[in-house]
Amino acid sequence: MSKKVRWAIVGCGVISSTHGKAITAAPDAELIATCDIIPERAEKCAETYGAAAWYTDYNEMMKRDDIDVVSICTPSGLHLEVAEAAAKAGKHVFSEKPIEITKERIDRMIQVCKDSGVKLGCVFQMRTFANNKLARQIIGEGKLGKMVLCDAYMKYYRSPEYYKSADWRGTWELDGGGALMNQGVHGIDLLLFMANSDVESVVAQADHLVRDIVVEDTAVAILQFKNGAFGVIEGTTSVNPARKARFELHGNDGSIVLEEGKIITWKVPDVEQPEAPGETSGSGHDDPKAITATGHVFLVQDMCEAILNDRDPYITGESARKAVDLILAIYESAKTGKRVYL
Ligand SMILES: NC(=O)c1ccc[n+]([C@@H]2O[C@H](COP(=O)([O-])OP(=O)(O)OC[C@H]3O[C@@H](n4cnc5c(N)ncnc54)[C@H](O)[C@@H]3O)[C@@H](O)[C@H]2O)c1
Repeated sequence: MSKKVRWAIVGCGVISSTHGKAITAAPDAELIATCDIIPERAEKCAETYGAAAWYTDYNEMMKRDDIDVVSICTPSGLHLEVAEAAAKAGKHVFSEKPIEITKERIDRMIQVCKDSGVKLGCVFQMRTFANNKLARQIIGEGKLGKMVLCDAYMKYYRSPEYYKSADWRGTWELDGGGALMNQGVHGIDLLLFMANSDVESVVAQADHLVRDIVVEDTAVAILQFKNGAFGVIEGTTSVNPARKARFELHGNDGSIVLEEGKIITWKVPDVEQPEAPGETSGSGHDDPKAITATGHVFLVQDMCEAILNDRDPYITGESARKAVDLILAIYESAKTGKRVYL
């Protein structure tokens, strides 16, 4: 392998430009090729971010021996097929969120990467923000005392036009769900990451209250965490104006409240509030195109270092699947009206 880790992007829609920017910015990465079934998109992405080649068939692209890792930016329910093709061609896999949309497809994605001896890294950019990492550490060290409530509120806005902007959006088959599986998955992943605990059981309601889609545009869930805390998740794409995702983490000795990575409340015994206010993802809560690239740059560079130093990426497939497993349990509870154990 050359010193730089050589990347390709499959799927040149909305999020591909963030990958293009991140690969360009990460010191150990270079972009070799792009691929989209729509030729103009593959060509434009290649031109914009300096890739030498572009393709409309990822199987053709995987034949190149100068690609080390493939960014998967296709619709969520099409991540597996690209991952399989990449892994079987000996290329590492870097997948957008959600890793995939069913348990079976995630199992296969993780297994094929293992069997092929390639790494599987995943994107959840809010996990890279400094204050979120600190909150996880503080809770892990027990500094908030016994955890009482761990809540995530994701009140987003997506217009009717957004759902019409690509035919996979808002479908069970390819989006895997709505407000939770597409947008809320970020905050659900972050809640699990910061609470430093898995969820044991969930009771939920979900429906499409206003948008003309078959999946949910709004969901609420009551959580029982394994660490004993209770929690709630509220997720929607149908409130106006939208708000940045808010996380409230309370123990009997202290509390941390964050909006994305920005501190709103800080009461941690013996730990001063960090001076830096903290990062956010831009305006992704009301505009899916307004996402900052900082988190992606971190994750792309981390993936390069994981490959160069033969270690696990920052976000593995096993940890990325936890948010999807929880969302699937929320959907099951909403459908059956029963408590679901994970
Ligand atoms: N991390 C984030 O903040 C973030 C933000 C937006 C989207 N995403 C994720 O990125 C993925 C893509 O979302 P998007 O909004 O960019 O979607 P999009 O519809 O804008 O782009 C998807 C692209 O994949 C292409 N495609 C479909 N099938 C293909 C195939 N077989 N081979 C090659 N290309 C193919 C489509 O033509 C399209 O250009 C989703 O999984 C989504 O959840 C993540």
